[in-house]
Amino acid sequence: MIKHAITKHPVLDLIKERWSARSFSPKEITTEQVHTILEAASWAPSANNEQPWEFQYALKGSAGFDSIWNCLAAGNQPWNKHAAGFIVSIARKTLSANGNPNANAEHDAGIATGYLLLQASSMGIYTHPMGGVDKVKLSNELKLTEDEKILCVISFGYLDDAEKLEEPFKGRELTARVRKPLAEFVKLVSSY
Ligand SMILES: Cc1cc2nc3c(=O)[nH]c(=O)nc-3n(C[C@H](O)[C@H](O)[C@H](O)COP(=O)(O)O)c2cc1C
Repeated sequence: MIKHAITKHPVLDLIKERWSARSFSPKEITTEQVHTILEAASWAPSANNEQPWEFQYALKGSAGFDSIWNCLAAGNQPWNKHAAGFIVSIARKTLSANGNPNANAEHDAGIATGYLLLQASSMGIYTHPMGGVDKVKLSNELKLTEDEKILCVISFGYLDDAEKLEEPFKGRELTARVRKPLAEFVKLVSSY
């Protein structure tokens, strides 16, 4: 598959095979499957095991799906009409024990989000995280408190044919994935 990562090192197949899809098939995803994906997220590490994440989801055909879709940026709406559902990834900004700010909240909720993407991929379910969302509008729709910060919306579903997409989405679906070489972001710490 063109979208699988070509790596220099023996990276896990699960990581190589995940990619952000846009062409979703009409096949439904069940609540049980979503719960499996979200339980995987809960097994992410977090500072003090605070688990400072929250996930709200909606399946296609529900009012929740429509209200999340309505908050997507214009460039994300067309191809997401066919998503089987959305997961809203949220960080809880304060510590449950004392209400103080949790400096690790977004980091830890981000790891949990990564876990859910990989769990979905292992189940043959494709995902697409999106920051192109009107987060103020979506916070209002979901009646979130000041403590709850939306990180991204993830659409998911089974994969359909890229040919069903219109441009520019079709072209993006067919483009190979690229990454910076390690030399650009890895440094060996040496004594100074
Ligand atoms: C936080 C976040 C926000 C993103 N926002 C969007 C978005 O609004 N629209 C979009 O099409 N893709 C979005 N993406 C997907 C990225 O473009 C994609 O992950 C990146 O190009 C790497 O491709 P891959 O996921 O297929 O490896 C987002 C990804 C992340 C993690």
